[in-house]
Amino acid sequence: MRIETLSVFPEMFETVMATSILGRAREKGALEYLGHDLRSWTHDRHKTVDDEIYGGGPGQLMKPEPVFEALDDLLEDAPARVIIFTPQGKQFDQSLAKELASAERLIMVCGRYEGFDERVYTLADYLISLGDYVLTGGELAAMVVSDAICRLLPGVLGSELSHTDDSFSEGLLEYPQYTRPAEYRGMEVPEVLLSGNHAAIAEWRRKMSIIKTAKLRPDLLVACGVSTDEVLEMKNTQL
Ligand code: ADE
Repeated sequence: MRIETLSVFPEMFETVMATSILGRAREKGALEYLGHDLRSWTHDRHKTVDDEIYGGGPGQLMKPEPVFEALDDLLEDAPARVIIFTPQGKQFDQSLAKELASAERLIMVCGRYEGFDERVYTLADYLISLGDYVLTGGELAAMVVSDAICRLLPGVLGSELSHTDDSFSEGLLEYPQYTRPAEYRGMEVPEVLLSGNHAAIAEWRRKMSIIKTAKLRPDLLVACGVSTDEVLEMKNTQL
C-alpha cells in the first residue's frame, strides 16, 4: 500500500516513517510513503496556506485552494482514499484501521491552525478524529493512523498471526501475557501457562480477556455481546 501525507510540516514524518516497524515495512516493500508539502500548491511569494476567518473569530483557517489543487494533481495519477484529520471526525479504532489497511493508496490531509475552510471537508472519503481533544495539527494523527495500519499489512509483523490476538481485534482487550522469570518479586506466572496444555491455555486466555475487559473497559463488552451473566460465571470459575 502507499501512504501519502499532505502537510505544511512534511519534516515531522521523516523519523517516524523511517523507524521500527514502519521503516521495516518500507524496506520490505509492503509500504510506500510519500510526504507532500502543501506549500508547493501555493502561488504567492510567502507560500500562504491560511487566512482570516469570515465573520470574525480568533486564529486563522487553512485556505481551500492549496488543498483542492494538491488533490487535483495527486488524484490524477491514480485513485486514492482521502482522509482528513479533524476532531469532528469519526473516532479512529481498530476496525477502521483494518478497513483502511485494505486500501491501495491513502492520502492523509493534515490541517493546522483552526482547521480547514469548510469546503475542504467535501474532498474527504474519511474524516477521522483521534479522540475528543484538540491537537495542534493533523500530523500526529496521521502518524498514529499510519502506524496502526502498517502493522496489519501482510508480511509486516514477524508472524502473520501476530495481530490476530491484539486488544480490540475481537472487540475485547488482550489477555495478560508473561515472559521469564516465572516468579518475580513474589508475583507468579499463572500455572496454566507453564502447563503446555494448549486447549487449557486457550480457554484461560479467552476467559481472562473477558474478565479484563469487564474490569477495564466494560463499554466494549456490551458492544461485542458478552452478557453480565457470562462475566460473573467466568469470575467464579477456577482460573
Ligand atoms: N486535529 C486536531 N485535533 C485532532 C484530533 N483530535 N484528531 C484528529 N485530528 C485532529
